[in-house]
Amino acid sequence: MQTENSCIVIFGASGDLTHRKLIPALYNLFKIGRLGEHFSVLGVARSELNDETFRQKMREALIKNEDTTDETLDEFCRHLYYQAVNTADAADYAKLVPRLADLHHQYQTDGNTLYYMSTPPSLYGVIPECLAAHGLNTEENGWKRIIVEKPFGYDEKTAQVLDVQIHRFFEEHQIYRIDHYLGKETVQNLLVLRFSNGWFEPLWNRNFIDYVEITGAESIGVEERGGYYDGSGAMRDMFQNHLLQVLAMVAMEPPAIINADSMRDEVAKVMHCLRPLTQEDVEHNLVLGQYIAGDVNGERVKGYLEEKGVPADSRTETYMALRCEIENWRWAGVPFYVRTGKRLPARVTEIVIHFKTTPHPVFSQNAPENKLIIRIQPDEGISMRFGLKKPGAGFEAKEVSMDFRYADLAGAQVLTAYERLLLDAMKGDATLFARTDAVHAAWQFVQPILDYKANGGRIHEYEAGTWGPVAADKLIARQGKVWRKPSGLMKKKV
Ligand code: BG6
Repeated sequence: MQTENSCIVIFGASGDLTHRKLIPALYNLFKIGRLGEHFSVLGVARSELNDETFRQKMREALIKNEDTTDETLDEFCRHLYYQAVNTADAADYAKLVPRLADLHHQYQTDGNTLYYMSTPPSLYGVIPECLAAHGLNTEENGWKRIIVEKPFGYDEKTAQVLDVQIHRFFEEHQIYRIDHYLGKETVQNLLVLRFSNGWFEPLWNRNFIDYVEITGAESIGVEERGGYYDGSGAMRDMFQNHLLQVLAMVAMEPPAIINADSMRDEVAKVMHCLRPLTQEDVEHNLVLGQYIAGDVNGERVKGYLEEKGVPADSRTETYMALRCEIENWRWAGVPFYVRTGKRLPARVTEIVIHFKTTPHPVFSQNAPENKLIIRIQPDEGISMRFGLKKPGAGFEAKEVSMDFRYADLAGAQVLTAYERLLLDAMKGDATLFARTDAVHAAWQFVQPILDYKANGGRIHEYEAGTWGPVAADKLIARQGKVWRKPSGLMKKKV
């Protein structure tokens, strides 16, 4: 399927995201024929580059990160253009008017324009206004859509202010709030797994599910992003957006039909049903942590406070674990344990659905638990764990597994998250983009955590290369459980 012909304008074109994710995603889409010939990319930033120097930089980034061939690289780079603009100065946007008119004419793109704000968040409220000052937001002549990178606000109040700022110049149907976790194939597969199989749905509720674990672990530290990360922390960086969206996919009701509105209605309902966190919750059901020096996969790494751009007395959390609940008929009383952290022993995102045990243990007291492990990344797949008889005398049960690995799907062409989401935005499909009501409900939910932090709430230390603070183990142990150690999920196919 081809996309609608368009010009993609990337604000923040000299930034990291453009080099590492956006241009590679567009290049790969081009390579597999999903962009056709009628598209152009206009990089916009303050740096004084021109088309040639911008192409050169993007070419270098592609050669470094992607599997390229000279021929497709040259062809793709011919679609790249650059315009230096002082992005905070409305008058300077006048330069974009003739530039865009030329590109639309040259590529026959009918005025269709996708703006991508990949700038510091302080510009998210400014760029729409500056575009509007030159009529670059109106849809009289082709569609205009705007992608907003995360973070969408810093808390509920700032998210609301930002919403008002953007809505003054763009309507909701033009706004695409990107959460790249929703672009991951395995996250979308959750919906297919749940809603296109007769087996799972009848069991997918409080009658059969004991608890749910969601882990978003990373072995990397803050790398070169200490300055950004310190103002954000694990809560804003991963939990409020990516992990709550994943939780919503696990918990949502089946949408009446698959379209942007009904899907996002169901996501928003989950966010609204999250049980508000009380003082007791933030004190007992929340653990915040910060890594100190340690060994990650055999390599000695520094502590968070020694990272570049991080103040020596920072209280920013690099780990967070929370027990929360969803107050509705399906989930009442089922704990959701969600954790995320940097400098943990492995990079792994997974969901574990722990089913209740049989009402009476006929064969042994320690019958294996039934669980469904959904591995979002890496080694994407699904593993069902259940008990079978241990060969030999007696009736002792042992845990066995039935596994599916994406890698075994021969010839499957899986788009990366940014590829999928850019394509959807060009097609005008907002299903996998966060809607304003869900974003606000998520901010509302996490506000008590922000308050707890601001009021000097405890930040536990954990050694880099471990699974987080001991307090997090105690948190889940109160229900007699332990966190799954997610290494070696899938047995390799033999
Ligand atoms: C980003 C965060 O949104 O997601 C990063 O800002 C984090 O800190 C990244 O590393 C994780 O994404 P992924 O796709 O690698 O799991």
